[in-house]
Amino acid sequence: MLIISIYIMDKPSKSSRMLLMARVISLFRMAVRTKYCTSRIKSYVIPLLNYSVDTQSSQGGIPVSFFELLGLLGSLKGITSDAVASPCVLKLLEAGEVVKFEKGAEEVSQFAAHFISDTDQLQTCNFANFFPLSEGTPLQRAEWIKFLGAFANLETKANQVYDAVKASYNCLSQMAAKRRTSFKPIVAWMEYDKNGGVWCFTKEPHKLKFVEDAGGENIDKSINKITYNVSDPDDLEALHAILCTVDAVIDETISSYPQNYTQKTFLDNISLEDNSCFAFNQSIWRYDKRVRQGTTLDWHDGAISQPNLVLADMIEALFPTGNYTTSYFRNIAKGEGVIDISPDMCDRDASLPFVPTIPACG
Ligand SMILES: *[C@@H]1O[C@H](CO)[C@@H](O)[C@H](O)[C@H]1NC(C)=O
Ligand SMILES: *[C@@H]1O[C@H](CO)[C@@H](O)[C@H](O)[C@H]1NC(C)=O
Ligand SMILES: *[C@@H]1O[C@H](CO)[C@@H](O)[C@H](O)[C@H]1NC(C)=O
Ligand SMILES: *[C@@H]1O[C@H](CO)[C@@H](O)[C@H](O)[C@H]1NC(C)=O
Ligand SMILES: *[C@@H]1O[C@H](CO)[C@@H](O)[C@H](O)[C@H]1NC(C)=O
Ligand SMILES: *[C@@H]1O[C@H](CO)[C@@H](O)[C@H](O)[C@H]1NC(C)=O
Repeated sequence: MLIISIYIMDKPSKSSRMLLMARVISLFRMAVRTKYCTSRIKSYVIPLLNYSVDTQSSQGGIPVSFFELLGLLGSLKGITSDAVASPCVLKLLEAGEVVKFEKGAEEVSQFAAHFISDTDQLQTCNFANFFPLSEGTPLQRAEWIKFLGAFANLETKANQVYDAVKASYNCLSQMAAKRRTSFKPIVAWMEYDKNGGVWCFTKEPHKLKFVEDAGGENIDKSINKITYNVSDPDDLEALHAILCTVDAVIDETISSYPQNYTQKTFLDNISLEDNSCFAFNQSIWRYDKRVRQGTTLDWHDGAISQPNLVLADMIEALFPTGNYTTSYFRNIAKGEGVIDISPDMCDRDASLPFVPTIPACG
């Protein structure tokens, strides 16, 4: 029997909206027997027999790791770019079980659903919008697994995975809060724009939340508003003054070759020859540790579905034990390099659900 679902395609902006949609899907599941497609409502035959993912617009978040956690890689049939940070998808691609296709309407129409996060494109009826980045907290982003699970009648599995990730996240965050020391390291997420020659500090809420939940403190809000032009001596002086208050830096600067992005790159771009007098001199982090072919970062995929690992990384960054191997963060102040993701790193049966990684806590 065909089961048909309906889903409102307005851009959802909050978790509650996403959950509402998932509920709409369940409600209509029994009621509707014809496939439906208007500008506001779409229907999909579920469970999906197959689907494809737009893997090109990584800045919006890629759902591949979510599908791995649900055990749905077996029905992933197409991707629009081979720049994917999942070893198992790369392996399926090599084996020809997943194909790379051009984004044309005709090519997309061969899949029961096509998942996109970049909505500035012409959409046909089988497009499904995946928007984790519209959420304000790391856990709300991870909760999008419930939305994806609904396409495969896997709501229960999705809830289980989410609950495990959430419990891990909350345990780590409580552990950080219970720390005996009252020292709260000050953290700056910062990014250099090569073209404008300016530095700015991040104000994205979920990033600031990671710092708070790890037991750190974000730099003052008034600092976030401004960009600092390194060619302007006053700006540069102000930038250095701010950095004097900072205990850890997370350098988000986009690099076309993360392998070569070192502490020297950072220091050059803040116009410092050495940082020995700065408190952050042992703690300059980037989130590009897991990278595929130079530029595709797992940060835009796996780090969204498992924010507990990012939090564990952040805690290690702020309160180093030397005992924990980070997943996404690398410390360029200690010369840590990147891990180049390749198909041979897939060491499991890709058709089975990937068990979420739960770092030690307590
Ligand atoms: C995907 O599934 C649909 C049925 O929903 C089928 O018609 C189509 O041929 C399948 N496409 C691929 C590429 O497997
Ligand atoms: C930064 O300053 C330089 C030199 O004054 C100027 O050419 C450049 O346009 C400035 N950048 C921005 C983004 O204002
Ligand atoms: C990266 O660094 C290596 C060694 O310094 C150099 O040979 C190579 O050209 C650099 N690559 C890029 C893309 O900058
Ligand atoms: C930023 O760092 C890179 C690599 O060291 C360097 O090529 C570039 O000139 C630097 N930019 C500035 C404005 O210092
Ligand atoms: C790092 O900075 C501190 C001052 O904040 C200084 O005491 C220490 O020697 C510096 N360490 C290195 C390796 O530069
Ligand atoms: C390192 O890990 C071990 C085992 O997980 C633990 O017993 C030990 O206390 C840890 N050391 C530090 C410094 O956290």
